[in-house]
Amino acid sequence: MFSAYCLHVGADLSIGKVTDSGNIRCAFHGWEYDGESGQCAYLPSGDPVPPRASLYRFPVVERYGIVFAFNGLTPRFSIPEFDHTEDSLVLKSGTFPDRFQVDPWVICANTPDLLHVTELHQFDVRNDPYEDVTWQDYSATFPIHALTPAGPVLDIRPEIHGTNLFHQNGTVDGRWFGWSTWMGIPTPGQTTVFYTICAQPEPDETPEQTGEFLDYVLNLEMSIASEDVPVFAGMHYTPGNLTRGDRVLARFFEYLRTFPRSHPSADFLN
Ligand code: FES
Ligand SMILES: [Fe+2]
Repeated sequence: MFSAYCLHVGADLSIGKVTDSGNIRCAFHGWEYDGESGQCAYLPSGDPVPPRASLYRFPVVERYGIVFAFNGLTPRFSIPEFDHTEDSLVLKSGTFPDRFQVDPWVICANTPDLLHVTELHQFDVRNDPYEDVTWQDYSATFPIHALTPAGPVLDIRPEIHGTNLFHQNGTVDGRWFGWSTWMGIPTPGQTTVFYTICAQPEPDETPEQTGEFLDYVLNLEMSIASEDVPVFAGMHYTPGNLTRGDRVLARFFEYLRTFPRSHPSADFLN
């Protein structure tokens, strides 16, 4: 994955093409970039290649049918794992149909915002998640055991990784499933949310039945998320009035404030 804009006069390379030799060829004047290094390799005009014309090359990894890119030279953490190996799972990845009108960190802050779980989502929380929060340099996690208002019992362990990855292992009515939302930021103030939902086939069920369970948990999670969407759309936060019940959220804001900052691709994306 490379920065998108041609270093000649800035055309969007996604409307170019990949040549037979694996170069990326700009649609505008045909500059070509090496498909491995991103270095400009060829100019149709025959002019010499400007030596500094090189695209920014992001480190990438492919998991769960999704290509993840890290905006830095070396990723500081790995893509989170599910409790079961990927090849033992029935897995579905997709994209939420609408962009969220906030930055990814606002959506991630929804997880450690423990008070909204009972008020907005009307969960009857049976454990004390405040007691069991685990903080690491690049992640935070805690367990929730709750009755949902529609009836299903959730026993889940949500995690935030970095500032834009939500990841969850757990059970609904005793059956394991995985659910993650991966947040891209197409432009400041907006988030494209990708998701992965997965389950393990039970020994006695058909593929259709596993698929039905996947759809069931996907609908359950989507309906919980849909309760947050209108709140996100109108959010105006001014620091100063968090209370004791917000202490996990407050600690998460601190995690965000002190998160290492780096934007090495900035000069390539203007
Ligand atoms: S803008 Fe890409 S070749 Fe000119
Ligand atoms: Fe929520």
